[in-house]
Amino acid sequence: MHVFVTGASGYIGSAVVPELIAAGHTVTGLARSDRAAAAVAALGATARRGDLADLPGLAAAAREADGVVHLGFARDDPGWGDLAAAVAADLRAVDALGAALTGTGKPLVTTGATLSLALAGFRGELTEHDTRPAGMRVDAENAVVALAGRGVRSAVVRLPNVHGGSRLGFASGLIAVARATGVAHYLGDGAQRWPSVHIGDVGGLYRRALESAPAGSRLHAVAEEGVGVRAVSEVIGRRLGVPVAPLDADAARRHFGHLAMFVGADNPTSSRSTRAALDWTPGGPGLLDDLDDPAHYALPAGAPAVARP
Ligand SMILES: NC(=O)c1ccc[n+]([C@@H]2O[C@H](COP(=O)([O-])OP(=O)(O)OC[C@H]3O[C@@H](n4cnc5c(N)ncnc54)[C@H](OP(=O)(O)O)[C@@H]3O)[C@@H](O)[C@H]2O)c1
Repeated sequence: MHVFVTGASGYIGSAVVPELIAAGHTVTGLARSDRAAAAVAALGATARRGDLADLPGLAAAAREADGVVHLGFARDDPGWGDLAAAVAADLRAVDALGAALTGTGKPLVTTGATLSLALAGFRGELTEHDTRPAGMRVDAENAVVALAGRGVRSAVVRLPNVHGGSRLGFASGLIAVARATGVAHYLGDGAQRWPSVHIGDVGGLYRRALESAPAGSRLHAVAEEGVGVRAVSEVIGRRLGVPVAPLDADAARRHFGHLAMFVGADNPTSSRSTRAALDWTPGGPGLLDDLDDPAHYALPAGAPAVARP
């Protein structure tokens, strides 16, 4: 298959593109800069210069492909600054890709987040069958699922906290905060659960989704149903040699800043249906083992060491 991939130069793209190529697909990756084009080429794909905001350009690329994987997300500010704008832009991109593929039967695999469901009010263990009528990123996933009724073999992959290589998802933020403040805090009793997956398992799931997911699938790229936030903080505290301690909600908001919402979210997520539907078995290391790797705590030369409260 000739696959058009947005976000090919990003973290998830660095796992998905090589997986597709190794399986015999050819990949054209969207690239908005020379740097991104070089990253896409280094993965063995062909770069197509363009921007997620160029909807006619996205539609043309989708029409020229046999299938589309949408990983791009126009959020350059790691805080909350432009999140609403990025979410709105994502919905416009999904609509443009979906319209271009309407009636073709081609696959469109997009990306959501398990956390979006929790933030939209879902409580309890999230399964692939659970939805919300509306919400941040939830609107895009609902739009993708609806494309199944318009002749698109659509699927959305809900990603949890993805870790591996140089990144640990939200845990990277917790390391930075603990290093800066000299305490590895958690909220309340720290029993909030983060679903997680190792980056090495993600590419295989996207490939399977592209090749064979039934139209209108919601899929969970989840290896660990829920890793406790207190356990995360304990590894960080031990590795940095700082105390580990609880905070109440107000203090946590001040301490964690934009990360507070993630730290406080209880988001246990099952992937039972996804594993069965796509014969997907994640095997990568768990989040706590990955977090225990000293490489994540190495400081660049000259950087300030851990603060002391
Ligand atoms: N990583 C996780 O733990 C996680 C968890 C849940 C959901 N997700 C979702 O998974 C998707 C991929 O995430 P990621 O971790 O791979 O993010 P990332 O490393 O930041 O990559 C984002 C990708 O989008 C591209 N992009 C951003 N703005 C663009 C624009 N205006 N035009 C064209 N391309 C643009 C980036 O290109 P450049 O290379 O030029 O920057 C990059 O290829 C996102 O939707 C993200 O929200 C990720």
